Amino acid sequence: MARKFFVGGNFKMNGTKESINSIVKGLNEAQLDSNVEVVIAPPALYLQLARDELTKAGVEVAAQNVYDKPNGAYTGEISVSQLKDLGVPWAILGHSERRTLLQETDEVVASKTKFAVDGGVAVIWCCGESLGEREAGRTVEVVERQLAALAAKLAAADWSKIVVAYEPIWAIGTGKVATVQQAQEVHEAIRKWLRANVGDGVADDTRILYGGSVNGKNCKDLAKEKDIDGFLVGGASLKPEFVDIINSNL
Ligand code: G3P
Repeated sequence: MARKFFVGGNFKMNGTKESINSIVKGLNEAQLDSNVEVVIAPPALYLQLARDELTKAGVEVAAQNVYDKPNGAYTGEISVSQLKDLGVPWAILGHSERRTLLQETDEVVASKTKFAVDGGVAVIWCCGESLGEREAGRTVEVVERQLAALAAKLAAADWSKIVVAYEPIWAIGTGKVATVQQAQEVHEAIRKWLRANVGDGVADDTRILYGGSVNGKNCKDLAKEKDIDGFLVGGASLKPEFVDIINSNL
């Protein structure tokens, strides 16, 4: 099955009602490649606004986190059922900023991912290595460790609700995008691991996104790589060039 190109915009802790309305209006009016699945992830406070104002076919909204318990005494957390209640079909989980700043372990991320999928919310699951791990030649080892923790929680059918995002931590927000070769090598290793440990169907069908300083200039060369199925974009998703990134596979 051909993998549909996928572009996610992770707004992180950025935006106001006005700026998010402006981004959504821009997407509603833009000429977007109809063969691309687009998801934007505003801060949780603005999910309803984005959901209600989005009219563009093929563009959905995502939360930047979700908890792995039903509603209850979990101050500050957001539940899967509340995302469903708002009509939010996606969540980004395992982002390196939450793994490092909030100490989310491989197992916590896997548990949240399973809970979200079981509750009907699809997941952009993030992985990636630090600069020190890359310089030590441990990139694939780290990503495979993260994948193994996820696979231990998932049933084979769950993978159809998962998009994998490889985000080298040293490229996030730094302007130091991975080279095409660096990105393709890790994407190929991820797909190889899926084939060996989950199966051919999941390996062939799972979209693997690249994230880390993607912009309107570097996206086209990256998009040409056989195992790069799209992008998870941070800073550039807040700018008009996000449309160029969405259309990078044209
Ligand atoms: O989740 C995407 C993000 O981590 C990438 O950030 O600003 O380097 O595109 P940025």
